[in-house]
Amino acid sequence: MALQPLLFSGATKASNLKVLFLMNMTIMEGPDRVLTNPAIFGDPSLASYERGGGYKGLRRVLSGLSPSDVIAEIKESGLRGRGGSGFPTALKWEKVANHRVPVRYVVANGSEGEPGSHKDHYLISRSPHQILEGMIIACFAVSAKSGHLFVKESFPEGINILRKAREEALAAGLLGNNILGSGFSVDIEIFVGPAAYIAGEETALLEALEGRVPRPRPKPPFYPTEMGLYNKPTVVNNVETYAHVSRILAEGTVKFRERGTPKSPGTMIFSVSGSVRRPVVVELPLGFSLERLLYDYAGGPLPGETFQCFFTGGPSFGILPAREIDTPLEYDALRAKGTGLGSAGIIVLGSKDSILATTAAFSEFYEKGSCGQCPPCRLGTESLHQTLEGLMNGQNSEDGIERLLKVTKMIKGRGNCGLITASAFMVESLLEHFTPLLREELASRGTEVSRRIPTWHYDHFVDPVPGTAGSPSHS
Ligand SMILES: Cc1cc2nc3c(=O)[nH]c(=O)nc-3n(C[C@H](O)[C@H](O)[C@H](O)COP(=O)(O)O)c2cc1C
Ligand code: SF4
Repeated sequence: MALQPLLFSGATKASNLKVLFLMNMTIMEGPDRVLTNPAIFGDPSLASYERGGGYKGLRRVLSGLSPSDVIAEIKESGLRGRGGSGFPTALKWEKVANHRVPVRYVVANGSEGEPGSHKDHYLISRSPHQILEGMIIACFAVSAKSGHLFVKESFPEGINILRKAREEALAAGLLGNNILGSGFSVDIEIFVGPAAYIAGEETALLEALEGRVPRPRPKPPFYPTEMGLYNKPTVVNNVETYAHVSRILAEGTVKFRERGTPKSPGTMIFSVSGSVRRPVVVELPLGFSLERLLYDYAGGPLPGETFQCFFTGGPSFGILPAREIDTPLEYDALRAKGTGLGSAGIIVLGSKDSILATTAAFSEFYEKGSCGQCPPCRLGTESLHQTLEGLMNGQNSEDGIERLLKVTKMIKGRGNCGLITASAFMVESLLEHFTPLLREELASRGTEVSRRIPTWHYDHFVDPVPGTAGSPSHS
């Protein structure tokens, strides 16, 4: 494992300043490599992608399938969106395809703002054509006027790779006018947008695409499938979702469903960061054991420690205590345990991490990430953060816990987007599972308590060395 301390700004009880560590994410090869199959993954060039069978799905679609055939296949595959909520992809497509308004759009969300999620940047940098192919297929399925792929300005490597891939696809007749002589024409814009966390929320992202500040739109009643880009029906999917589309159309739904569970079929790219021996990205079937992921791929807890708890879907989906380590990694099983899969960015807390300091750090992330347009969110995220910081500094412990409970109840569901609810849910989840521990930590005020928080920022991806990091380390 290579942990690289980059910035140091203190982390002692006295100073309360923060340390930012960056780590390297080791790439591991799981047993089921679909998106990360080396034949189509690694070298981002069109030549390499096509050599491994890339654009086979699009060729099949354009050589005789109808838009409704394509949607039927996506429906049969059971594909659920990989951007956070696991919403069935075909339902969105169907709504847009059947809309009475003829001008429609397809948008790809490559923002990847959730702490702990590193899969989308990995996918963009290693296999941009897989995403473009899925987007072109989506454009065909819903008869879209154009496609738009949102990528953050803070990811220059990804921007260059995507722009180059688009140029290659245009030159090869896979994009643009009369694609592969089929009569179907569509282009994809590579849109460089703001790096702000909130820009990843789908309606904020649409605002950014229209040239405005990324602020989420009120909903319901109108979701992007009704009124999306320029108020036209729009499909918004995560970039990994589109990559799965290209595989499903190339290899068929039966093959897709061979992996995963009946309700959460297929694979997903997992990222594990925090207090593990080896932070990793690895593609695994949905339903894979969290325990095996953490021990076999991420190398287990740090030396001399045990696991304390996990943010299985980043902070937005709350906390899973370590005793639940046998929970399968899929949407419904995690939801049943009061957490979620999100975009599969798992942040691990070891026994020496402070759950209070970590929650306080995430609440600061939400406070800073709030776009501020809904007063309950602006005030609520600030209040949660300040109260948690106050508890850390030994102020008003019982009052503080009461205030946290009150604020979370008051703000949940009261904004234009999910950020407000995520911030409340995380704190509720802390109180649900860790109130006794919290009281213990608060009672020890005045003595030296750990303020360590796990690290989830990454510096770069490390390719596996054949025969070493490419396969599981423990059995
Ligand atoms: C505050 C917030 C931030 C989000 N950030 C992202 C993001 O970075 N990437 C992403 O794909 N979805 C993000 N989402 C979810 C999107 O709004 C949307 O549900 C998703 O892009 C749909 O794609 P899917 O159906 O393929 O999962 C975010 C949602 C919220 C509330
Ligand atoms: S809930 Fe918060 S982040 Fe979402 S739109 Fe309202 S103020 Fe902005």
